[in-house]
Amino acid sequence: MTPPSGSSRPSRTARAAALGRAVGYAGHRDDLAEQLLPWRDAALARRLRYRVDGAGRQGRFLRPTTAVLAAHTTLRMAVIDDLVRDAVADGADQVVVLGAGLDTRAWRLPELATTRVLELDLPEIQSGKQLRLGGTPARAEEVRFVPVDFHTADLDRVLADAGHQAHEPTIWLWEGVTMYLDEPSVRATLEALAGRSAAGSRLAMTFAVPALLGDSGPGRILSPGARAAFDLLGEPLRTLMTAADVRMLLRDVGVEDLVLSDFAAWAATLGVDPPRNPLAAEHLAVATWH
Ligand SMILES: C[S@@+](CC[C@H](N)C(=O)[O-])C[C@H]1O[C@@H](n2cnc3c(N)ncnc32)[C@H](O)[C@@H]1O
Repeated sequence: MTPPSGSSRPSRTARAAALGRAVGYAGHRDDLAEQLLPWRDAALARRLRYRVDGAGRQGRFLRPTTAVLAAHTTLRMAVIDDLVRDAVADGADQVVVLGAGLDTRAWRLPELATTRVLELDLPEIQSGKQLRLGGTPARAEEVRFVPVDFHTADLDRVLADAGHQAHEPTIWLWEGVTMYLDEPSVRATLEALAGRSAAGSRLAMTFAVPALLGDSGPGRILSPGARAAFDLLGEPLRTLMTAADVRMLLRDVGVEDLVLSDFAAWAATLGVDPPRNPLAAEHLAVATWH
């Protein structure tokens, strides 16, 4: 998962997510994503976007895997953007992006103008991102890069040192990350967040359900082919959770208000037609502290 020492390349999965958002889907797109991609990926995004725009019908001229990646990451982004806007409108003024990768919300969403954003990720990922951002002005009032490894960090202390205000509501974003962490780290992270979540705080966390790999039963035995594919990316899948697992995990940290959704629900919420999506086994959990 950690690139070679000294590397400033974003993780492969972070690049894939940004590539998908740079291509976009059904009128939604991340217009800053391309800037953050290594040049080969950026060129690919431009080519793919041209085909989408030229055809006006995404999917027909794209390879199915690319169309699915673009749709999945773009709709995931769009529903979480809406959640962020709602939480800010309700008074939250700090956002913590856990495993931020090439997330662009702090530079993209005008609604964050009075908001402080903390971006947490591995330091080598952050240095490359900062380089590619150049002087791009943030839309957020302030952005702080906070280097962290979720597998080893004392997150409570890291957040306190970074200026997170535990007595004020927080918007926690944990998008496309839990599946790459081991289970104790997922639990420890949630415990740290819960301990710092004032009333009104919200968490948007995605998780991969066992069906992602065609498992049945308890679902934690990965099919060898799928495991090998993620291993080859250097970012093995470590934690898959059922809806029941997630409910229990969040109940354990004191959250009862939990809404779960999947790709089909995101498409319905946004009023767009979803393509068939084998990545649909990544679900979204939205938790609210009262
Ligand atoms: C699939 S990317 C998702 C990035 C971003 N949230 C998005 O949706 O585009 C996973 C991110 O989690 C980060 N990550 C993975 N393991 C981590 C760890 N142990 N500590 C900190 N960050 C980690 C990676 O560096 C990467 O940026």
